[in-house]
Amino acid sequence: MATGSGYSPVVPSGDGGVEVELDQDHPGFADPAYRRRRNDIAALSVNWLAGEPVPFVEYTEAEHGVWRIVSHELSRKHEKYACREFLHGREALALPTDHIPQLDEVSEHLVPITGFDYAPVAGLAPLREFYGAFAGRRFFSTQYIRHHSVPLYTPEPDIVHEVIGHANQLASPKFAAVCEEVGRAVGRSERAETLAFLSKVFWFTLEFGVVFEDGSPQAYGAGILSSFGELDVFRKADLRPFDFAAMGSVEYDITRYQPLLYAAESFDRLIDDLMDFYRTYDDEARERLLAASAVA
Ligand SMILES: [Fe+2]
Repeated sequence: MATGSGYSPVVPSGDGGVEVELDQDHPGFADPAYRRRRNDIAALSVNWLAGEPVPFVEYTEAEHGVWRIVSHELSRKHEKYACREFLHGREALALPTDHIPQLDEVSEHLVPITGFDYAPVAGLAPLREFYGAFAGRRFFSTQYIRHHSVPLYTPEPDIVHEVIGHANQLASPKFAAVCEEVGRAVGRSERAETLAFLSKVFWFTLEFGVVFEDGSPQAYGAGILSSFGELDVFRKADLRPFDFAAMGSVEYDITRYQPLLYAAESFDRLIDDLMDFYRTYDDEARERLLAASAVA
């Protein structure tokens, strides 16, 4: 996830390390062992340089236990609520369910399918870097996992979101092609507002998108598909017709379930529209879209 973020800030700690600033409401806020763990994992990627091997995280048995619970519970819900393309990607990728995969393990599964690989980042990556890397079929991912006290909840994106949400999506050749176009569009987006508009469209599509299949709204967004709670409620949201001008203009609150979502009328139409949008996206696209929607 990148837009709006939700990632906890990572700041220098003064002793040469880094500190992850958890919010007071974070389930791990009052757990010193978890705080140290987060700092140590963040330091691995802060010190990582492109081209070096991806840092290996020695996950604990408790952390693997969290992954097992979330994998199992999300998998059951995907059968009911995920769109078919996501389920096909999930089957092709065959992520481990008994342990947290290293990012290299994710890449080993994903590269042969769509060419996307996983690289580490401590928290929020700058938008231009995060989306821009898609042009080279690279996905920047955090490596920490949520607090063990509430395995089915996290206030911030964690490796469950990055891998179960995004890697399964990126195992679809169609979604991977869309994401590559997102990266190319970033290369044509020199103005900050152009990039911000693009990231909001990304939020309402590849993070929180819904598509009708056989008359039923199915999730294809990684944000919904990695959230145990949101999978139960997204169908109750105000589902509006697909509309890029609206997506890029509306405000949203990342700290709550999304009350407003945009639903594509069919999967083929969704991919066509996304490809057309990102292929032609540049610094003038936002004005063109807003002008067209005003005329309509
Ligand atoms: Fe995401």
